[in-house]
Amino acid sequence: MEYLKNKAVIIGAGNLAWHLLEGLESIGVPVTTVFSRSFEKAEQLAKRSFQAVPTNNMDFTHLSANLFFLCIPDDALISVVSQIRLPSKAILIHSSGSMPISALQNNFTHQVGVLYPLQTFSKSHKVEWRKIPIFVEASDETTLEKLFHVAEQLSEEVFEINSEERLRLHISAVMASNFVNHFLYIASKYLQELQLPFSIIKPLVEETIQKAFRIGAYEAQTGPARQNDKETLAYHIETLLQLGQTQEAHLYEMVSKSIIRTYFPHYDLF
Ligand SMILES: NC(=O)c1ccc[n+]([C@@H]2O[C@H](COP(=O)([O-])OP(=O)(O)OC[C@H]3O[C@@H](n4cnc5c(N)ncnc54)[C@H](OP(=O)(O)O)[C@@H]3O)[C@@H](O)[C@H]2O)c1
Repeated sequence: MEYLKNKAVIIGAGNLAWHLLEGLESIGVPVTTVFSRSFEKAEQLAKRSFQAVPTNNMDFTHLSANLFFLCIPDDALISVVSQIRLPSKAILIHSSGSMPISALQNNFTHQVGVLYPLQTFSKSHKVEWRKIPIFVEASDETTLEKLFHVAEQLSEEVFEINSEERLRLHISAVMASNFVNHFLYIASKYLQELQLPFSIIKPLVEETIQKAFRIGAYEAQTGPARQNDKETLAYHIETLLQLGQTQEAHLYEMVSKSIIRTYFPHYDLF
């Protein structure tokens, strides 16, 4: 019965806020207020909700909501936490992979927690919350139970994890998602120069990802570095340098060295 009383406030109106609002309302947690520094942005997001009221004021002491979700960039967290004013029974929650739970402590916060969804969110792209793993952490058992309950309604996969573990998880996510995407961007630029469509590498990329999950990423590796083919590696690096792609040449060399060290730990590097 206690859970039925959950009411949420979303602080921030960016990518995560956009989807969290929809997710919370879909599991019956009403979002009563949306905060943004810009009243217009708060209004835009609030319009997507059943009943949320937009605001640009961080004094929330008069509200009856209990879950306050900070959906703001990591580097703004400490400053916002020091300015925010909350009702006495509020739980202040952030969704960052790298910020520790201790970043939420101030004189007005007693119960704090983290609800970290392992997914990349963009306003333009719909997400399926049930398929997104969620990692939770809380200041105390009661708060943990409450956050776990919300997370389990949102997602099929919920884990308790501490701040240090979450930081390492976030690093893995950056490697697997942000770095892979950056390499796709570099590849797309080269393809564009060759007047080939980006979609030409889609079958290769899809099979690479599928194979890694089929047989394991270690087993799935192929290519010149996996063969320790120093001649081809040097040829590729030289070509990149001649094309004036110095940064990409360094990147190519660094990643190739990492692959060689993984499979040939006792070999001399090129
Ligand atoms: N997006 C993802 O894929 C993703 C995935 C998992 C977790 N997260 C976590 O979710 C949190 C939010 O990320 P996001 O991607 O939603 O960020 P975002 O799209 O950049 O949106 C950030 C929001 O915070 C506001 N903001 C920025 N600085 C502020 C300040 N000093 N005071 C008050 N509001 C401020 C921005 O308002 P203005 O528009 O006025 O600048 C904007 O509404 C981060 O902790 C991130 O690590 C994100």
